[in-house]
Amino acid sequence: MSTSTAQSLIAKAERREALFGIVGLGYVGLPLVIELARAGYKVLGFDILPHVVDRLNAGHSHVKDITDAALQEAIANGRFEATTDLGRLGEPDAISICVPTPLSKFKDPDVSFIQAATESVRRTLRKGQVVILESTTYPGTTRELMLPALESTGLKVGADFFLSFSPERVDPGNPVYGTRNTPKVIGGITPDCQRVTAALYQPAIEQLVLVSSPEAAELTKILENTFRSVNIGLVNETAIVCDKLGVDVWEVIEAAATKPFGFMKFLPGPGLGGHCIPIDPHYLAWKMRGLNYKTRFIDLAGEVNTEMPMFWVRKVAEALNGVSRSVRGSRVLILGVAYKRDIDDLRESPALDIIKLLEQQGAHVEFHDPHVASYLEDGKTVHSVPLTPEALKAADCVMIVTDHTAIDYQLVKRHARLVVDTRHVMPKN
Ligand SMILES: NC(=O)c1ccc[n+]([C@@H]2O[C@H](COP(=O)([O-])OP(=O)(O)OC[C@H]3O[C@@H](n4cnc5c(N)ncnc54)[C@H](O)[C@@H]3O)[C@@H](O)[C@H]2O)c1
Repeated sequence: MSTSTAQSLIAKAERREALFGIVGLGYVGLPLVIELARAGYKVLGFDILPHVVDRLNAGHSHVKDITDAALQEAIANGRFEATTDLGRLGEPDAISICVPTPLSKFKDPDVSFIQAATESVRRTLRKGQVVILESTTYPGTTRELMLPALESTGLKVGADFFLSFSPERVDPGNPVYGTRNTPKVIGGITPDCQRVTAALYQPAIEQLVLVSSPEAAELTKILENTFRSVNIGLVNETAIVCDKLGVDVWEVIEAAATKPFGFMKFLPGPGLGGHCIPIDPHYLAWKMRGLNYKTRFIDLAGEVNTEMPMFWVRKVAEALNGVSRSVRGSRVLILGVAYKRDIDDLRESPALDIIKLLEQQGAHVEFHDPHVASYLEDGKTVHSVPLTPEALKAADCVMIVTDHTAIDYQLVKRHARLVVDTRHVMPKN
């Protein structure tokens, strides 16, 4: 039987009278804001960056998957407002925390953003609030790190306030699956925590998947990303094996994928990028090290995937060697620097490693990316060059790193002298 505090929150959710607070308005937080507003909730967005908040309040989205029109609709309906004033965290009934979880220099989890957000929530925590952590993190974060901080207020979890973990699964640039139609996993500290969280998200998310604890939900998210990292590591290793055997790896994968059961297609590439797959498995590896267990699959996949930029730089060197040129002094044009197709996100992008490695070997490197106008490297801004016949002809080698659909590969085929294609996208004729 639920407590009356839980019941009153569930009733507020049913009437859409609950006020949502979203802490962290980035790739994860902003899409969640929009879906909650569409479901009829009022949402108060919190971020520590004034320029993010100011632009959002002016109706300009900085997240590619969210259009200005969608944001402006939420603002016009009186359903969204953003603020840097974390002192207002006492206002929302439900608080979803969507802050970054990067790695430290030594590949250990950096949970300082979660700690800072939890401290802000703690300061104004009141009876009748539910706090939901969305950030990807190691199993135990919600219970071991957040719960003691929030209960230090004297309020009791499951009775006065509610605490859950519900991992965000957003896949930026995915035209089919977004926040609303991707099933959402929820694990609460107590059964009422789970019930209240589910009731609040239910109007905005098509399918909720309830698990028995925050640890199960935390581990679910890391399993998903580890599954990808390990399988990408396997096909990347297969690419190296095929290269040594003189066999076409893509032909082998396509043939294997004709098996109607028991095989799932993953593709090799320049290495892993983004804020999730290269990082999240290390959160689990770190946690398990503390329990005297070495996560061998995670470590091995990380190793293979991290070595891929070097593998592809060697392919460039071999290609140049084939036309009697050295890497030193050659002009290399990189196509695509975002970490994956059709997005503008550069975080952990293997293209940046490839560029660095080529420059270290004395190449003159330029890049073209239809989604990235420029980026900052070692204090200087590097700009995308236009993809013209002249730029292609001027390069000793053109290297396709990210397979954006907006790149004109026919043009590349017509004018490039030498192509190294990490994504196997060059047209056959
Ligand atoms: N980007 C993805 O594709 C993706 C997918 C699934 C899960 N995740 C996970 O979601 C979490 C957030 O990732 P993201 O990509 O949205 O990050 P992001 O960097 O795009 O956004 C995070 C936002 O949080 C703000 N912030 C940081 N500390 C804050 C604080 N104390 N109070 C208020 N705001 C604060 C930052 O200014 C930033 O605007 C991470 O744990 C990530 O692993 C990301």
